[in-house]
Amino acid sequence: LSLSPAPPSLPPPLSLPPPSISPSRGISLSPSPHLSLSRPPLSLSPPAPLLSLSPARPPPLSPPLSQFLDIWDVNMLRRPDEVNTPQHSTHLYASDHLIVRRGQEFQLKVTFDRPYKPSDDQFAVEFVIGGSPQYSKGTYIPVSVAKDRQSPWAGRVVDSTDNVVTVGITPAPDCIVGKWRTYVAVVTPYGIRRTRRDESRDLYVLFNAWATGDSVFLDDADEREECVLNEVGVIYHGAYDDMSERPWNFGQFDYGVLDACLFIMDKAAMPITNRGDAIKVARKASAMLNSHDDDGVLVGNWSGDYTYGVAPTSWTGSTEILLNYSSSKTPVCYAQCWVYAAVFNTFLRCLGIPARVVTNFFSAHDNDGNLKTDVILDENGRIDKHRTKDSIWNYHCWNECYMSRPDLPQGFGGWQAVDATPQETSDGIYRCGPASVQAIKHGQICFPFDAPFLFAEVNSDVVFYSRNPRDGTLEPVKVNSSHVGRMVVTKVPGQDARRDITDQYKFPEGSPEERTVLEKAEEYGCHREKATPPEADVELDMPLMEVRVGDDFELKLEFNNTSDQARTVDVYVSGNVVYYTGVTSSEFLFKTPRVILDPKKGRRVMEVHSQDYMRKLVEQANLHFIATGKVKETGQIITSMRVVTLHTPKLSVEVSGLAKVSEEMMVTVEFTNPFKFNLEDVYVRVEGPGVMPPKYKHYSLITAGSSLTWTEGVTPRRAGPTKLMASLDCAALRQVYGQAQLTVKP
Ligand SMILES: *[C@@H]1O[C@H](CO)[C@@H](O)[C@H](O)[C@H]1NC(C)=O
Ligand SMILES: *[C@@H]1O[C@H](CO)[C@@H](O)[C@H](O)[C@H]1NC(C)=O
Ligand SMILES: *[C@@H]1O[C@H](CO)[C@@H](O)[C@H](O)[C@H]1NC(C)=O
Repeated sequence: LSLSPAPPSLPPPLSLPPPSISPSRGISLSPSPHLSLSRPPLSLSPPAPLLSLSPARPPPLSPPLSQFLDIWDVNMLRRPDEVNTPQHSTHLYASDHLIVRRGQEFQLKVTFDRPYKPSDDQFAVEFVIGGSPQYSKGTYIPVSVAKDRQSPWAGRVVDSTDNVVTVGITPAPDCIVGKWRTYVAVVTPYGIRRTRRDESRDLYVLFNAWATGDSVFLDDADEREECVLNEVGVIYHGAYDDMSERPWNFGQFDYGVLDACLFIMDKAAMPITNRGDAIKVARKASAMLNSHDDDGVLVGNWSGDYTYGVAPTSWTGSTEILLNYSSSKTPVCYAQCWVYAAVFNTFLRCLGIPARVVTNFFSAHDNDGNLKTDVILDENGRIDKHRTKDSIWNYHCWNECYMSRPDLPQGFGGWQAVDATPQETSDGIYRCGPASVQAIKHGQICFPFDAPFLFAEVNSDVVFYSRNPRDGTLEPVKVNSSHVGRMVVTKVPGQDARRDITDQYKFPEGSPEERTVLEKAEEYGCHREKATPPEADVELDMPLMEVRVGDDFELKLEFNNTSDQARTVDVYVSGNVVYYTGVTSSEFLFKTPRVILDPKKGRRVMEVHSQDYMRKLVEQANLHFIATGKVKETGQIITSMRVVTLHTPKLSVEVSGLAKVSEEMMVTVEFTNPFKFNLEDVYVRVEGPGVMPPKYKHYSLITAGSSLTWTEGVTPRRAGPTKLMASLDCAALRQVYGQAQLTVKP
């Protein structure tokens, strides 16, 4: 027993009943300040239902104190080679403490001063969380091993050999998730013998996707492995028909990350008693991951100037961010949507809630509950830039977490969308979700939380209005209902491949179900443009092209004349450099060809020169082309939109030497500047779970055509397959990524 004084953070000791104990009975029950049994978290509410921890009988009738068990040691069996962590799938956490999942038995060993007898059932293992533990609040849990007593957490004697008793304890499947303090107490007629607070016995209890009784139970082994245990992920971005991907180190098992995740809830002053509720934890975290309102984890910045922080494109993983937040206790600079989603994913996986990052291509940024994004054209069919305010994000990332929804009607459990990127406030706070994906699909957007917003992100229409120059009235001339929410993707469990999950969010375009869903959503207050302007008999398309940063290329306009008459179209083609949020930075191309159509397909090709766009590029090197026009003979409006995400050069990551636990090997990151211009103020970052903590290097100049090579010695910490991930980032060139796969031998 440790005899050190209790740390000041603990509640004051309970004054035990007068201990008519003679000094000769020994130190363990002495009333001195270092009383070994002094730390009583108990406030057993009156009908003390379980173990009564007050003296059982008056001393005169009692056997001598020496007959009662004295506690010599408590062993939490927390090493990876001991029974608990492999069974709870928590062996990967780098931690000095035992980490278990609720609703599943773990074991600990108590050593007494003499062999344990079944009649010695007056001992309890106690678990305490928070500042004012109470039995009635579920923050003080005494676990008895006696068969005839029930405990909120089941307890049993698994084995008893000599003086050592192995106790099996099953935390309730809905218990509070967090860091519990462990005590062992023996009740004697003379008072309670209780172990002192010993930090090494602190116990982390997590959500349990493996336990049927847990609200986050996920009945698919592959998805569970991926969405709880995989530390590396892939984040998709770019365009739906020309997708880019980047690796991310979620790092949920890294040293200190679990404490950082718990700190986030502390910082939010989230009541301890809410922390067993996955819905509340996910909702609170969606607010806390952004710095708005509450000094949460990440500061968003979409300005292109990241001088006072790390560029959102430069991060390679979540650990650096979370550890910085928990040590500095101030928001970390800077994030954009995928950074919010990736760090949120770490938070959820770390606490045991199955989670994944999803990407929605062409995500409506809807700000007034309308299901439409407005594009205003002038009388000739040309875009009126000043009056067109709405933008559509090229893509947007959010998270899904898996849980039951006892607060909703049946059928709406399962994947829930949550979004930490500050776009809109919900009840006055920047947070979003959890919203049932199933409910979004069926237009049941009345259910909490924030379903209308998520519904609009995947279902909005793009409505083109023609503005009457005389009275300013707007007439809808074209409705494009297939542009927004074009595709929703996530990573396939167990593979570096992508999975199209659009069908989990919506019914196929044009299906009868789709119409029903939209009608349902309208009943719940989502407004749509009802007009159905006639389809033009000329179609316009700008086909896909794959272009690298710095290339000249041809923009093709393809017309298809479906009428049986002459058609003449005046087209306005506008090429813009845009942020991925769809916000235009500058227009670099504007052309107004007149096209006379043959019966066959018509085609018009425009040259785009790199010098036109290179100087104006921002951020993620996106070019947005929009062509609009009016058919002369009919007055019909035709439109087409095309996003070109310019491909960046690759970063090479290579590993040399034998990858073996505790043996040094070399990691080399190489890059050649392929451009005719210099790159300045370049940051290169690299990290790999279990192999290398996040590191970065700054290069003030990489001249045109020159190369950099960075070699670093690293020592793998644990065996198994893993990845090294690297990024290169500077103002003139962002989103340069590389990775290397390796398997570390034991
Ligand atoms: C974005 O970052 C830049 C430079 O670090 C800073 O000057 C600017 O104020 C930030 N913008 C926002 C909206 O925080
Ligand atoms: C991390 O924290 C330190 C202070 O503890 C701060 O100086 C540094 O800028 C932080 N890094 C980031 C990326 O915010
Ligand atoms: C448009 O196509 C139709 C056939 O679909 C053809 O009869 C008509 O002449 C074409 N118009 C022009 C201007 O070529």
